Amino acid sequence: MPATCVVGLQWGDEAKGKIVDLLADHHDYVVRYNGGANAGHTIVWGDRTFKLSLLPSGILKPRVRSVIGNGLVVYPPRFLEEIEQLQHAGIKVGDNLLLSEHAHLIFPYHIEEERLAETAIEGSIGTTGRGIGPCYQDKIGRRFGIRVGDLLTPSYLRERLRTIVPIKNRLLSAYANLPDANPPQFDPDQLTEEYLGYAERMRPFIGNATRVLHEGLNAGRSILFEAAQGSLLDVDHGTYPYVTSSSSLPGGIWPGTGIPTRSLTRIIGVVKAYTTRVGRGPFPTELRDATAERIRTIGREYGTVTGRPRRVGWFDAVAVRYTARLAAADEITIMLLDVLSGLPELKIATAYQHPEGSRSFEDFPSDAQRLEECQAIYETLPGWSEDLTRCRSWNNLPRAAQRYVERIRDLVGLPVTLISVGPDREQIIRLT
Ligand code: IMP
Repeated sequence: MPATCVVGLQWGDEAKGKIVDLLADHHDYVVRYNGGANAGHTIVWGDRTFKLSLLPSGILKPRVRSVIGNGLVVYPPRFLEEIEQLQHAGIKVGDNLLLSEHAHLIFPYHIEEERLAETAIEGSIGTTGRGIGPCYQDKIGRRFGIRVGDLLTPSYLRERLRTIVPIKNRLLSAYANLPDANPPQFDPDQLTEEYLGYAERMRPFIGNATRVLHEGLNAGRSILFEAAQGSLLDVDHGTYPYVTSSSSLPGGIWPGTGIPTRSLTRIIGVVKAYTTRVGRGPFPTELRDATAERIRTIGREYGTVTGRPRRVGWFDAVAVRYTARLAAADEITIMLLDVLSGLPELKIATAYQHPEGSRSFEDFPSDAQRLEECQAIYETLPGWSEDLTRCRSWNNLPRAAQRYVERIRDLVGLPVTLISVGPDREQIIRLT
């Protein structure tokens, strides 16, 4: 049965939530497989706007079951806050939400660990500060990881925290001589009580997500996988070390949910008509001029999670061709095309000049140091002045906008199936 993945092919914030929202009605499950509350998505629902960072984008649709897979890292207060936000707006959240018992738990010491490491270690990553990296570190290290299911066995949780917290306290104290570090110390028993309080409220949502999804697939139900972040932030194939700590490419679905990636029948790569990046790291097509300012303002390019202004640049066909191949994307959707109206000309990076003198379209060096040394080589296309927000068909688009889209299609080598020309659900042009 159909299993679809929606994945960003840049550095995140490609407006994947809108594509998930459009497709969710045709699926039985919407499933997140990676990350945590670092993934801001804004969902416009009628005249209301919801900002979610942990719950899957399908949560506004009662008929769809939203699943948080084992590959996620979950901070209980945020999980509960997002549910409350929805309930206050009159949206029912009950058995339409399932949280894997094998997802890992973020504790306040993870958030502190991250804050201190980001200040202390030269070359900070510019993370979202949500404790994501330290929690994944503990998961992979195996000695300090605590899973959602452990919340339901109080004696085990208490015993684990009594072992772990004193070690974490020592680790935090190691930063004490940093200016303004003020590393806090945690009490294991207090933390246990706090988390057991969350456990009672989380209990109805916790279950064996892998089994539910396998049973669903066997019964002919369809799944929509929602990647968080973007492929260039993938821990293995992104611009390491300026990446997130999980596998955001569709390959992360298998470990992050237990559903084999061979079940996927459709992989939709989502790109913006330009490029943005939040946090540090190389960005060959970055702009630092009035054009960047204009795109940032019109595109409302400020982080959903942290509010930071996003870095802005031209569309990078070298990078997207690289991620489209890694993601095994079947098609691409181009978002925020309307934002580019009014620019006299547009550029697309079609190759990199490598430090040793070679020019290449095929070779995207994901290693941050080497990428930092590359220079983007551009092709320039004419811009258009018309407002696109009312366009609903290919023929409505100005010729220059059509040429821009066609050039992206040809450079990336994939069909463009949808173009978004505004935040609303209806502001789309379907090309199939
Ligand atoms: P972390 O995921 O908080 O560890 O942050 C690592 C890097 O990924 C930082 O550069 C963040 O700004 C970036 N990042 C994490 N999540 C997102 C996202 O959903 N959109 C865009 N950037 C993100």
